[in-house]
Amino acid sequence: MNFQLSEEQLAVRDAAREFAQSELLPGVIERDSEAKFPKAQLEKMGQLGFLGMMVDPRYNGGGMDTVSYAIAMEELSKIDASASVAMSVNNSLVCWGLEKYGTEAQKQKYLTRLASGEVLGAFCLSEPEAGSDATSQRTTAEKSGDHFIINGVKNWITNGSSASIYLVFAQTDPQKGHKGISVFIVERDWEGFVVGKKEDKLGIRGSDTHSLIFTDVKVPMENRIGEDGFGFTYAMETLNGGRIGIASQALGIAAGAYEFALAYSKERKTFGKPICEHQAIQFKLADMATQIEAARLLVYKAAWLKDQGEDYAHASAMAKLYASEVAMNVTIEAVQIHGGYGYVKEYHVERLMRDAKITQIYEGTSEIQRIIISRKILK
Ligand code: CAA
Repeated sequence: MNFQLSEEQLAVRDAAREFAQSELLPGVIERDSEAKFPKAQLEKMGQLGFLGMMVDPRYNGGGMDTVSYAIAMEELSKIDASASVAMSVNNSLVCWGLEKYGTEAQKQKYLTRLASGEVLGAFCLSEPEAGSDATSQRTTAEKSGDHFIINGVKNWITNGSSASIYLVFAQTDPQKGHKGISVFIVERDWEGFVVGKKEDKLGIRGSDTHSLIFTDVKVPMENRIGEDGFGFTYAMETLNGGRIGIASQALGIAAGAYEFALAYSKERKTFGKPICEHQAIQFKLADMATQIEAARLLVYKAAWLKDQGEDYAHASAMAKLYASEVAMNVTIEAVQIHGGYGYVKEYHVERLMRDAKITQIYEGTSEIQRIIISRKILK
């Protein structure tokens, strides 16, 4: 067993850490307050290769492994989880699936632009009546000549208004249940497609989350990914990898809050000494560091299994379940260590605490992860 990161992985970590400090930290509090999408920051992330990290260089990607991607996600999420969720969706839910299941023409037309960061992608599975129960898709895609006509509403879509390319799940044959769901590539400026209401959220406020409305949107046959009825498998397979991205995000939120709390505990004095010299604080820091390390091992293992071509569905569910709970615990303790200062925006930890919560909800709630894990155990 080798716990040593490679030269390339260490270089990715350093580059992401440096980018987070120099480009994401300035203005992160204002972007959160004003719910402002980090557009300029994401453009730079695209130029640096963070938006198509695992894609083959033939399609403008970085050709890196999943462990490197997890490392980059952790470092960027220490500071700005709104920027990192846009990155996660683009990498895992859009680029990865397109590369694995798309046609050569789809890859040339769409993946090359998504992987380079020229455009952003969105993954449109959730609906007002289909969140955890993702098989209950109401959006329909009816065949009409050499096209499909899509009608329906999608909810809570990350990159909702900033994306240019949308992967849309729709029922092509409702009689067949989840085996009648297909997935289509839809372009933003197609007639009948409207970006709906922007959500006003507790955390990841810089991430633009929208509802999307499709009214008789005409989608050419060649924009279906895979065969008719392949959509639900596509969603499940991409989410297995997406959960590694979100687990890494949760890990980064926890590690970021811990680093702020550790630094603060060395500066802040009470009763005549730095608070890190009080055992009450030392024990908190010890618990936080231990939980973060355990989460990191689960995340790296899930990423490594994926890189080895092994089954990683339950490992990614375990990583996401645990890392998101660690993110909640650690950020709450980081606020506590900061005391009154932790409750105000200037010290960053209250934002990280709000950001942490979503990692227990999106890409499958903690309850859904437990379903996936328990099914595997009991199989
Ligand atoms: N990997 C691969 N296949 C899977 C799978 C997994 N993790 N989970 C289920 N499947 C397959 C099953 O094997 C089954 O296939 P067959 O019919 O061919 O046998 C099929 O999917 C249906 O599965 P079930 O019969 O188990 O269906 P279910 O309704 O009992 O459970 C579910 C399905 C696992 C709960 C699924 O609906 C699910 O994952 N829900 C959560 C949805 C989710 O994660 N949404 C996230 C939205 S995207 C997002 O959040 C992005 C963002 O903004 C950041």
